Amino acid sequence: MDSHFQRHVLIQMTIFFFLFIHSLPSTNANLIDDACNVFKDPRSCISALKQDPKIISAPDFKTLAKNAVRFAISNSTDSKNFIQDMAQKSTEPTLKKALESCLSERGYGYVIRDFKIVLREIDEDPESASYDAMVAQDGAQYCEETLASSGLKVDSVTTRNDYVKLYSIVCSAVMDKI
Ligand SMILES: *[C@@H]1O[C@H](CO)[C@@H](O)[C@H](O)[C@H]1NC(C)=O
Repeated sequence: MDSHFQRHVLIQMTIFFFLFIHSLPSTNANLIDDACNVFKDPRSCISALKQDPKIISAPDFKTLAKNAVRFAISNSTDSKNFIQDMAQKSTEPTLKKALESCLSERGYGYVIRDFKIVLREIDEDPESASYDAMVAQDGAQYCEETLASSGLKVDSVTTRNDYVKLYSIVCSAVMDKI
């Protein structure tokens, strides 16, 4: 084979691969990776978004954002129910009071109400949606501070508060891509 022929084959192969890669449907793995690469360590963002098949199959950032916020609402509602259950079963007054405060309008009441506002804002005003997604975590922070100021350490509730904080930050990052 002369070198001219070899170069010809190489160029053809390069063109083929270029076309091949560009003809692949842009899978959502790309959208998720793209949205999460604003984080120094994108792993928890990626894993948060891969919890739900509807997020994974979203064809564009707007759909991805809506499905991520819907998941954030259901995830936070599950946490609220978990805390509610714990509060009802608790016979320890300090704990009961702190948990009730976590469930209040400044706690999970705020988180869920705020995420619902975000969902309505996505179409009209993604910039406000991004900001409001970021502040949803304030309700979880309020819960965390209430526990701390009551001298309580409740790991299972702290884990739930961390979920809220995670989805707050991740939803905001996705919204910035719209
Ligand atoms: C809530 O989100 C966290 C973090 O992605 C996940 O580990 C957990 O299983 C989710 N829980 C529900 C009920 O969706």
